[in-house]
This record gives sequence, structure tokens and C-alpha cells, in this order.
Amino acid sequence: MKNVQTFAAVAAFATTALAQMTPMAKLEARATSTASGSATVTSTTTLPTITTRGNAFFNGTSDEDRFYIRGVDYQPGGSSTASDPLADYATCSRDIPYFQKLGLNTIRVYTVDNSKSHDECMAALANAGIYLALDVNTPEYSLNRDEPAESYNAVYLQSIFATIDAFQNYSNTLLFFSGNEVINTANSTSAAPYVKAVTRDMRQYIGERGYRSIPVGYSAADVSSNQYLMAQYMDCGSTASRSDFYAINNYEWCDPSSYTTSGWSQLVDQYSNYSLPLFMSEYGCITNTRTFKESAALYQEDMTSVFSGGLVYEYSEEGNGYGIVTISGDTVTPVDDQFSDLQTELASTSDPSSGGNYSTTGVAQDCPAQSDDWDTSPFTGTALPATPSGAEKYFEDGAGTGPGLSGSGSQESGDGKVSTAASDAGSVSTTYTGTTSVASATGSSSSSSASSSGSPSSAAGRSVAMGMAPFVCGLAVAISFCMGAVLL
Ligand SMILES: *[C@@H]1O[C@H](CO)[C@@H](O)[C@H](O)[C@H]1NC(C)=O
Ligand SMILES: *[C@@H]1O[C@H](CO)[C@@H](O)[C@H](O)[C@H]1NC(C)=O
Ligand SMILES: *[C@@H]1O[C@H](CO)[C@@H](O)[C@H](O)[C@H]1NC(C)=O
Ligand SMILES: *[C@@H]1O[C@H](CO)[C@@H](O)[C@H](O)[C@H]1NC(C)=O
Ligand SMILES: *[C@@H]1O[C@H](CO)[C@@H](O)[C@H](O)[C@H]1NC(C)=O
Repeated sequence: MKNVQTFAAVAAFATTALAQMTPMAKLEARATSTASGSATVTSTTTLPTITTRGNAFFNGTSDEDRFYIRGVDYQPGGSSTASDPLADYATCSRDIPYFQKLGLNTIRVYTVDNSKSHDECMAALANAGIYLALDVNTPEYSLNRDEPAESYNAVYLQSIFATIDAFQNYSNTLLFFSGNEVINTANSTSAAPYVKAVTRDMRQYIGERGYRSIPVGYSAADVSSNQYLMAQYMDCGSTASRSDFYAINNYEWCDPSSYTTSGWSQLVDQYSNYSLPLFMSEYGCITNTRTFKESAALYQEDMTSVFSGGLVYEYSEEGNGYGIVTISGDTVTPVDDQFSDLQTELASTSDPSSGGNYSTTGVAQDCPAQSDDWDTSPFTGTALPATPSGAEKYFEDGAGTGPGLSGSGSQESGDGKVSTAASDAGSVSTTYTGTTSVASATGSSSSSSASSSGSPSSAAGRSVAMGMAPFVCGLAVAISFCMGAVLL
């Protein structure tokens, strides 16, 4: 409950939204509205930038003041439409008062348009004490898990580097996700070397451009057979090839539950020697009633010794039953009693004092051995695909203008050849020529891409009963594809 903010910094939002607020908030909100109902942010708070040390995040440079993510996943419009909620002040300013009511310090956004300005929304978020965890991929500019070699190309990297350019200067940019649920089944681990290569390239780009060290890491689907193997993989090999953090999507805790019965205690044991900051990039029960007791549990010291909080999936109801508010035009309506339960649970739990038992003694992991559950051939051990040669100029010259959401896409622009493995210590050079077959239709091409939009993964390997219509598309397919398939 550190984020007790006034609503005054958030300029204008619709009268309908005012109905949801306290009288004082209404007054302040009205006072800063313009007659037209649109307003701009006039001044910006600079938030302390978040840093990492050991397995934790810190508020600024303090050694004591740990930063625990208290957040929601924010994709108004749902995962089937690629839209950017941070390029539209009317959208973000409508929702920020609700983030504040929940006491949040972070939101995750799955898709942004790197050709647009985000100054107003990022300023409004900063004024509200809220940081951004940002996915750099878009549906058209992302890895294709079925054809990772072709989709890992210079056109793709130009887009995600341009997204880094667009957000690196905001003090409240918390971190970048290099990928989201690219591996979403028990048998899609062959994409892992490409996810790791993209993470490496983003970290190199941030370093070579002289930006502050914004953490880069991957958000892993709730697939029990490989989620932990991927964690080890993202934390093995040379420093240059390892991530700054790891994030898991986890839907295990369904009330009534507890630290032990949910399986969370086993996660803590499993990750107790992990060297990187770890958090839940999506959580929230997806089967039973959602009462968010886990939101209180997440900030207890038994969890905080390895986890740094998490993001509830998700803010707005988009037809899948997971929203804590519904949105209709300018009107936001909290979903009974989910919104108030989440608000109560977060408010009831303060952050642990004295660093929450974080650790600086975690160790770099061993790269997973090849097995039935882990097949990354031809890249085994620490070997990774080399950065596409056409992308090297961006490290020196910058990425230039981003293609936005309407560009022609990157997935079919590769030549399908990754010639040598990067020189990670002890690795063996590998030659790989991928197939050059391409999907014939835009829909099918983007459908199998790494989901840049958020959706609860199919949770292959966990027995999750999902009785919702979108999931009829199949256990192994992300909801974004299912919905896309319906629309296309
Ligand atoms: C970070 O530290 C500042 C003081 O330097 C404090 O005002 C702020 O509340 C802290 N933020 C979080 C999220 O802990
Ligand atoms: C970066 O942000 C600072 C304020 O935080 C601003 O003064 C400066 O102009 C920005 N630089 C660029 C290149 O946008
Ligand atoms: C993964 O398994 C599914 C279902 O058994 C199959 O349809 C798919 O082709 C497999 N993918 C790979 C890359 O082997
Ligand atoms: C860390 O612990 C896990 C299991 O908890 C184990 O598999 C792994 O080998 C350990 N890693 C190191 C480097 O000790
Ligand atoms: C603190 O962390 C250590 C090592 O990870 C662990 O053994 C211990 O149980 C933790 N203490 C608490 C209170 O969680």
C-alpha cells in the first residue's frame, strides 16, 4: 500500500467514470478536466528507475528498498486486436484511476505501436507512480514458433529495437519482455534458442546505444514440462547470453488454497538457487471463483525470497472471464466482487521489510541437457543462433523509425539461413539452414507466431479444465490464435 496517490495528476476522463470514484477524487478530477473533455499532462514526475541485484528488483539505487511488482496485465480490446492503449490518452487516462484504486505500481502492456508517441500516457502513469512492463513484439513483428529461423531476421530486430528506442527514456519503463509464451506446448522448445538470441540482442542493443540498463527477460507459459527448463536455459552460458530476469505465467492457485496446497511452495524450493529476479507475469485462477487470496500470499516473505510480486491476468474483461473490470466506451465498471477482492487483498498486505529475504548467492544454471522435454537441436548447450548480419548496423546507428502496427511484417522476410552459432564460451559452431516454406495467408502466418498478445496459455501438462468457448480450438493453441481464426 505504498501507492496512495491523488487522482489530481490524471487529467480528464469521462463523467461516467467519475461515478465510480470517491467524492474527493471526483472533485479533483473535474478540477483538472478541460471543457472539451480532453486534456494533456502538463508535468511529469520522474520515478526512481528500477534496478536489479541478485534475485531481486530495487527501487532506485538503494540496497534496502526492494521493488515488488503489484500489477495487472493491461490489454483493453483483448488479445485478438493489435492496438496500443498507451498511444491514446483517452484510453489510458480512463483506466489509470482504477490502477490507483487497486494500489498498483506496475502494468504490463502486450502490444505497442512504435511509430507513435507515448509521452502523454507514460507521463500520466509516472504521475500515478506506475511503471510499465512492456512486450516489444507485435503480431506482425515477432518470432514464429513454427519457423523460428526464418522469423529471426533483421526486419524483425529493427522493429523491436525501435520499440526500445521509443520507451528507453521514460523513467517508469520497468522492463522489456523479449517474448511471451513463444514456447507454449511440450514440444515447441526448438524455438528456445531464438528466444534467447533475441534477448541477447536486445540487451546488446541497450548497452551499445548507451541506454540505462533496462532489464530484459522472457515471460514463460504455464507448461509444466518445460517452464523450469526454460528458466535454467535463460540463466545459463555467458553473461552476455543470460537474461536480466525470468517471468512465469502461473495459474495454479485457485481459492480455497494455500502456499503449500497451491504448489507455490514447490516453486520456491525449485527456484531457491536461481540467480535472476523472478516474478509472475500472469497469475489469477482461471477455473474457480477468483477471490485473489494469492495476491496477499505473493508478498509474504516465504514467497519474496525468490519472487518479486506479479501481474494479475487481467484488467479488462475481454470475453474470456478473466477481467476485473468491464469497459464500454468511456465507462469502466468493476466486476463484482473481483475488483474489490483484489483491492482488499493487495491493501491487506504490505511489502516485507528488510529486503524480503532476497538472495545474492544464486548461481548461473547449467544449460538443460537434450531430452524428450527439451529439444533445442541443432543448438545444444550454450550454442545460439548468430545475430542476423543485416541487423548489426542497428547497434551502431540505431534502429531508426519503427514500422508500427501496420507495417508489412517481418515473419517472411528472413532468408531462412542462420549460418553460425554465436561464440558463446565453449559452444560449437552450428550450421543450420531452415526451410523456406512460408505460410500462404497472413492469418495463418501470424497465428503461429509468438503471441505478442496476452492470453492464458493452454497450460499443456497441467490439468486445467477450461470450459470457455475460445479453448475449443485446442489444448496446444493460444487463445489469440483461436480468436484470430474465428475472426479471419
Ligand atoms: C521508491 O522510493 C521513493 C523514495 O525514493 C518512494 O517515494 C517511493 O514510494 C518508492 N516506490 C516504491 C514503489 O517502493
Ligand atoms: C528524456 O527525458 C528527459 C526527461 O525525463 C527529457 O528532458 C529529455 O528531453 C528526453 N530525451 C529525449 C531524447 O527524448
Ligand atoms: C507438437 O505436437 C502436436 C500434437 O501432438 C503436433 O500436432 C505438432 O506438429 C508437434 N509440433 C512439433 C514442432 O513437433
Ligand atoms: C539448482 O536447483 C535445482 C533444483 O532445485 C537443480 O536442478 C539445479 O541443478 C541447481 N543448480 C545448480 C547450479 O546448483
Ligand atoms: C530465506 O531464504 C533462504 C534461502 O533461500 C531459505 O532457506 C529460508 O527459508 C528463507 N526464509 C524465509 C523466512 O522464507
